[in-house]
Amino acid sequence: MARSFAQLARSAEKSSSSIAVPKEPLETAPLDIHTLGDDALRGDARRIGKVDERVRDLARDMLRSMYTARGIGLAAPQVGVHQQLLVIDLDFETPSTPPLVLINPEITTCSASVDTYEEGCLSIPGVYLDVVRPTAIQLSFRDEMGRPRTMKADGLMARCIQHEMDHLRGVLFVDRVTDAGGLKKELKDHGFLSTDVRPITP
Ligand code: NI
Repeated sequence: MARSFAQLARSAEKSSSSIAVPKEPLETAPLDIHTLGDDALRGDARRIGKVDERVRDLARDMLRSMYTARGIGLAAPQVGVHQQLLVIDLDFETPSTPPLVLINPEITTCSASVDTYEEGCLSIPGVYLDVVRPTAIQLSFRDEMGRPRTMKADGLMARCIQHEMDHLRGVLFVDRVTDAGGLKKELKDHGFLSTDVRPITP
């Protein structure tokens, strides 16, 4: 997810991440981020079996790429890897706050209440539009050491997790935008094609 929501960030969820990397942007990101129109963004991601150093190396490279692109969340399919791995850091301005790494995340509970909030995506740079999503979620996942974990999230964290989890099944936030006119204009203004959107009927 792109960074503009950060001003409304609540204090970031703490994790015991052992894969933190420097948060300063690099001159060159280690991984390229695919953009709207690339088929890589539209596939299903596979569950990760063994959480090993290879997975942690990928998570580190994703974090470096996310910080370089000034994002707050990145999903593996965005860098062309179809595995169920997400990295999130809402507190990118604090070097000591560890990022959150979610492997094989599953939402176990969704609130009935929904929020409307403006989203952006590193795969659709410059485009920001309102999306309706459940306000709060509970989820299960494995952390970067392969440990099973559960967490509750609301506010920006809940939104960011849901946005990134959509990437694991080839869904982009623009697919959920209900303001068809605004969507068309935003995409055109930023050089994207409306025909690359795959609307989800609620
Ligand atoms: Ni995204």
